[in-house]
Amino acid sequence: MQGGTTTAKMEVKTSLLDNMIGVGDMVLLEPLSEDSFLDNLKKRFDHSEIYTYIGSVVISMNPYRSLPIYTPEKVEEYRNRNFYELSPHIYALADEAYRSLRDQDKDQCILITGESGAGKTEASKLVMSYVAAVCGKGHEVNKVKEQLLQSNPVLEAFGNAKTVRNDNSSRFGKYMDIEFDFKGDPLGGVISNYLLEKSRVVKQPRGERNFHVFYQLLSGASDDTLRKLKLDRDFSKYNYLSLDSAAVNGLDDAANFRTVRNAMQIVGFMEDEVQSVLELVAAVLKLGNIEFKPESRCNGTDESRVKDKNDLKEMCELLGIEQSVLERAFSYRTVEAKMEKVSTTLNVAQAYYARDALAKNLYSRLFSWLVTRINESIQAQTKARHKVMGVLDIYGFEIFEDNSFEQFIINYCNEKLQQIFIELTLREEQEEYVREGIEWTNIEYFNNAIICDLIENNQNGILAMLDEECLRPGTVTDETFLDKLNTICADHQHFESRLNKNSKFLNDHSLPHNCFRIQHYAGKVLYRVEGFVDKNNDLLYRDLSQAMYKANHSLIKQLFPEGNPAKVNLKRPPTAGFQFRASVGTLMRNLQTKNPNYIRCIKPNDKKASHIFTDSLVCHQVRYLGLMENVRVRRAGYAFRQPYEPCLERYKMLCKRTWPHWKGPAREGVEVLMADLQIPAEEIAYGRSKIFIRNPRTLFFLEEKRKQCLQDLATLIQKIYRGWKCRTHFLLMKKSQIVVAAWYRRYAQQKKYRNIKSATTVVQSYTRGWQARKLLRELKYQKRCEEAVTTIAAFWHGTQARLELRRLKQEARNKHAVTVIWAYWQGTKVRREYRKFFRANAGKKIYDFTIQRIIQKYFLGLKSNMPSMSPIDKKWPARPYGFLDGVHTELRKIFHHWRCKKYRDQFTEEKKAVYEEKLEASEIFKGKKALYPSSVSQPFKGDYLEISKNPKYQKLNSAVDEKVLLADVVNKINRANGKGTPRIFLLTKKNFVLADQKTGQVKASIPLPDVTSVSVSTQKDGFFALKLKEGSASAVKGDFLLSSEHLIEIITKLHRIGATAADREKLKVDISDEFLVQFKQDKVCVKFIQSSPKNGNSVSCKRKNNRLLEVSVPTSP
Ligand SMILES: Nc1ncnc2c1ncn2[C@@H]1O[C@H](COP(=O)(O)OP(=O)(O)OP(=O)(O)O)[C@@H](O)[C@H]1O
Ligand SMILES: [Mg+2]
Repeated sequence: MQGGTTTAKMEVKTSLLDNMIGVGDMVLLEPLSEDSFLDNLKKRFDHSEIYTYIGSVVISMNPYRSLPIYTPEKVEEYRNRNFYELSPHIYALADEAYRSLRDQDKDQCILITGESGAGKTEASKLVMSYVAAVCGKGHEVNKVKEQLLQSNPVLEAFGNAKTVRNDNSSRFGKYMDIEFDFKGDPLGGVISNYLLEKSRVVKQPRGERNFHVFYQLLSGASDDTLRKLKLDRDFSKYNYLSLDSAAVNGLDDAANFRTVRNAMQIVGFMEDEVQSVLELVAAVLKLGNIEFKPESRCNGTDESRVKDKNDLKEMCELLGIEQSVLERAFSYRTVEAKMEKVSTTLNVAQAYYARDALAKNLYSRLFSWLVTRINESIQAQTKARHKVMGVLDIYGFEIFEDNSFEQFIINYCNEKLQQIFIELTLREEQEEYVREGIEWTNIEYFNNAIICDLIENNQNGILAMLDEECLRPGTVTDETFLDKLNTICADHQHFESRLNKNSKFLNDHSLPHNCFRIQHYAGKVLYRVEGFVDKNNDLLYRDLSQAMYKANHSLIKQLFPEGNPAKVNLKRPPTAGFQFRASVGTLMRNLQTKNPNYIRCIKPNDKKASHIFTDSLVCHQVRYLGLMENVRVRRAGYAFRQPYEPCLERYKMLCKRTWPHWKGPAREGVEVLMADLQIPAEEIAYGRSKIFIRNPRTLFFLEEKRKQCLQDLATLIQKIYRGWKCRTHFLLMKKSQIVVAAWYRRYAQQKKYRNIKSATTVVQSYTRGWQARKLLRELKYQKRCEEAVTTIAAFWHGTQARLELRRLKQEARNKHAVTVIWAYWQGTKVRREYRKFFRANAGKKIYDFTIQRIIQKYFLGLKSNMPSMSPIDKKWPARPYGFLDGVHTELRKIFHHWRCKKYRDQFTEEKKAVYEEKLEASEIFKGKKALYPSSVSQPFKGDYLEISKNPKYQKLNSAVDEKVLLADVVNKINRANGKGTPRIFLLTKKNFVLADQKTGQVKASIPLPDVTSVSVSTQKDGFFALKLKEGSASAVKGDFLLSSEHLIEIITKLHRIGATAADREKLKVDISDEFLVQFKQDKVCVKFIQSSPKNGNSVSCKRKNNRLLEVSVPTSP
């Protein structure tokens, strides 16, 4: 489904439809009616969307305010974008035209139509500025662009004026051809101007102004310039300047003057040319001030005389004309006919007529000269073939209260433009469908050809009749012209006149007698015939043109060439109407050769106000511009057509079957192509010679594809070219490589040969050397052998001699040795004697000395290696010599005793007592009770309750008269259930006391002599039973079974008291896990058992039965 995807693709690109106010293209309007059309325009206008499309036609509403839509960013946005890609804009049309001109080599024309004030001139400037912005850049190109753009302010100053409809109304038609080279860079341009409304120079309707330049000159020129031009800065001084609207809102004449001068400079006017132009403008103003007075001559005729010659004088000075010559030209008229010259005087009216004619001619010729001069500057410098874009901005359709020849001409021109629009968009298009055999339902539209014919028909057209009337001998007046019209055009359905006898308008009072009315395509216009003949004749008395020619002013001379007496031409110059018709004809033919682009300007209101949309006014314009018909044809028709051949040629690369050649009829090729591209059938129609494409999007799709394909082709060409280039390069390299290799191999072989050669030489030289050396060796050997014999003989003799010598020496040595040995023997004997004597005395002394030394060393060593003073330190230096064994052990004991003594000497009495107590505890418990080791480190504090200091025990303290040796809280075990009750336990030398822990009340006080023994277990518990003497007073209640954390201390203290007291026996301490305790009458066995730590960490005591109390002591983990 490629077709589907392509449509989707095309839709993604379409942003014309996005965020659209109303519809951007009227073709999409649903339902299509005049009301919906107007509503859409209004809606868009209200949202400042002033542009709307009808297919490729742009409708432009005049916003009458500046909108921010002409910025450089906008230019960039629309640049190189498809027409329907973005929201409607005049830039889109300009871009489309420029791109088809550049890329498809089609000359373009941009036809801007609409009534006066609808925005044509603005539109034309926007188009030009857009094209200037997007086309090429560079110093030369920029200069051309600038000149083209700057021609506008110059022409507007001289050709535009304020009218009741438009403050900047173009009073001339302008067609500008911009020429481009093949790259699309501007080369230059040609401007054609059409019939300037020159009557405005001498007279302006109420509420209107003369051409802008007069006001600009007077407001903006410097005082100096004005003085040179002999002008005053006061509009009221000049008859030709209407006063009622000299200053126009929003128009700054002075600033515009500077703009115009600057523009003239850019366009290329020389300073003296500008001066001449200004002089002519000043001259026209001066001319208007020349007034005439009648003077009767003796022959009864009236003659005119210049009233005040000052203005005439100044004007003549300005133009370098002799005053008398001009004065005469205003008074006489010379008619020349076939060698005859007749001079008649002018009356005042004729003088004024002559003056005005001169002013009008002077100004209109100056204007034409300006256009020519601008053309000279902007013309293309090369003769190379160029492409052309024409921009037509012609005066808009005008209906004034008082319409004259100018309006007639202007409206005729607009009729022709409408005709060309109809021709190309409505008639031509529809006819083409029929011609091509495309199914088509005809759409009705109004064809204004009939009105054009009424005006321009060569036989009985209004212009032809006017010319006829003008050329006719006899009295010719505007009335005779009207009569003629009445007779000839009476039956024409678009012509209305009251004087026509058969006319149905006889009683139409809106149609005055001196007027005729034409039903133009844009409405009925009433023309007053007055001035038609004169304006058509455009007569300037020859005396005046000759006077002008005589002027000593280069520009004036140029403007009046017919004044040259040497070239007197008796033929009448062509009439204004004729000239205009001819130039319009040329223009139309020119336009028809180009691809048209339409901008249809619409005026939203008559008040030149922004935000006002007058329905009736817009509706009228929509109707006469035929926009509805345009939409209908467009909706029914096809957006694009092209003959099969160029179409196939353009797109054949998009299909494999047509690329690169299609053998067969072009139409079939196109059909194959379209089928291959899966263009939906409803998008295309095949005519007899052309293919019709309904939607521009399809065309854009084709173009897009083609663009991609061209890129691919370019890549292919590049690929092949690069391949060829690389291959050629490779072959060249290969060839070169062979040459290089050959050369190299030769060089290498040569080198190798040279190496072998030199090696051979070396080997040879070595061999030769070796042979020579061998020979030398042999020779040397022979020589040595000879020498050896001699040497051996010498050695032999030598040896013999030495042997003899040695024998003699040995003999001598032997004799000497005997002597020496004797001496040694004597010595040895003496020494042996001496040694015997020495050993007998010295041995014992040395032994003693050595032993002494060893002992001394031992003591000194011991001194420096003494162990610490701690009595428990077991260290003692090692014994150095076995014979010191006994001494060493003895010394160790002595040292230990001595240090123990030293240690003991440090003890105080209290500490001593504590240690004695500790010693006693150890004697009693060590190795017998498991609780003992934990008590060793505990100091025996005695008074744990601080009984004397604590006020709580004051009473208790006072109850005991002895010094308290131990005060602690013990648990008294209840005999009945084995539970413990805390009791204060006080021990004095005499007794022990049990008191209530809370109240301090003494519960029992037992004299110590009554305590016979104490029983404890072997385990870690703190239980002890104090057994009392049987029969004593204390024993009544039975023995005490107590438990205390300080068991060891309590019992030690009890034992000590017993040991020290003289009156008592020593306290007996039983250590056993089972003992009997006397509870009142019963003897109960207290049994200690070991329990596992699981059952808790505390000792528990339970009464098992009346004979057994079981204490379970947890084993330590
Ligand atoms: N696009 C626009 N943006 C802003 N203002 C505009 C625009 N178009 C026209 N105008 C305003 O409308 C005025 C009349 O426009 P313009 O002179 O272009 O009309 P015209 O169609 O050329 O009339 P004429 O036929 O009388 O020459 C301009 O002076 C300007 O103020
Ligand atoms: Mg204009």
